[in-house]
Amino acid sequence: MKDLDKVIQSSESELKNSKNLDHLEIIRLKYFGKNGLINKEMRNLSKLETNLRKEAGKKLNLFKADFNQLLEERKSYFENETIKKKISEEFIDPTLPSRTKEDNLARVHPISQTIEEIVSILGSMGLKYVEGPDIEDDFHNFTALNIPSNHPARQMHDTFYVDAKSSEKFVLRTHTSPVQIRSLKTENLPIKIFAPGRTYRCDSDITHTPMFHQVEGLVVDKNINFSNLKWFISEFCIAFFNNENLKLRFRPSFFPFTEPSAEVDINCKREKGKLILGEGDQWLEIMGCGMVHPNVFKLSNFNVGESRGFAFGIGIERLAMLKYGMSDLRNFFENDIRWLDHYGFSFLDVPDLNWD
Ligand code: DAH
Repeated sequence: MKDLDKVIQSSESELKNSKNLDHLEIIRLKYFGKNGLINKEMRNLSKLETNLRKEAGKKLNLFKADFNQLLEERKSYFENETIKKKISEEFIDPTLPSRTKEDNLARVHPISQTIEEIVSILGSMGLKYVEGPDIEDDFHNFTALNIPSNHPARQMHDTFYVDAKSSEKFVLRTHTSPVQIRSLKTENLPIKIFAPGRTYRCDSDITHTPMFHQVEGLVVDKNINFSNLKWFISEFCIAFFNNENLKLRFRPSFFPFTEPSAEVDINCKREKGKLILGEGDQWLEIMGCGMVHPNVFKLSNFNVGESRGFAFGIGIERLAMLKYGMSDLRNFFENDIRWLDHYGFSFLDVPDLNWD
């Protein structure tokens, strides 16, 4: 019994001096845990004679009630403290001044914005984002894409050749199509990839800059045919231009790495100097595409079996110009702050079709 009095006293002061919720739990276990001090006392009760046992039992029960009450009080004290701390840490002062104009001056470049839009559309259509190097070897950029050695694109005036000490020729990639070869070499069926990035050609006028951007797409799987390609491209265009009325025209064309090949046009009209997409009967070319040429699979050592593939390549600047109404390609890379102010995007802009 004397022991019990001591236990009661010490438990009270321990609870009062507890430091936090974890500490409180340790104290609770010390007294009321399976091997706690109170359980020990309970077990000792049976050794006492009836009168003493009754008295001690009563005392223990009272103690239990007092202990629990104090425990709850301490618990809610610590819980309140935690909430108070959180509130003070997360406090936002509504009297602070709003953002200054200078804070909002930074602009997202239209190319970055357009790439982000393309990434989110193609990503949600099930293609995987991949990248290839800007400096390519002759094999990936030309040979494996079934481009013959006498093709004009290989000539010095089109391609930037990189000085290299090795016997292999290196170029600044003239298109993103070499990423097709890299994917065929590393991926297994089904292949569903797209690869946006920089491309380079020795060319500069109102519609050409030495560096520009393309996005390549490649889908190889069982039962892939030209209808899948047509469906895919029209879904992409409708989403990108946010225009359900857009009409597409697939015009037969030629690329060495696809057979059959097509160029894709969208319909438009010009009204009072304004270009309107999805209306009228004029056509604007927007991309090249086709079914992957068997030689491309062969040259990449890809065992395509019964599967087939489609591919497409899109000029990103061209898409941006059509969607956002810029007229001169060169302005994209001149870093004129007035142009960026006008055509750039705020970080919070929601992309949409907007010609005004
Ligand atoms: N690589 C071509 C170019 O730069 C674009 C292209 C056309 C890519 C057809 C393709 C395609 O994947 O199928 O002009």
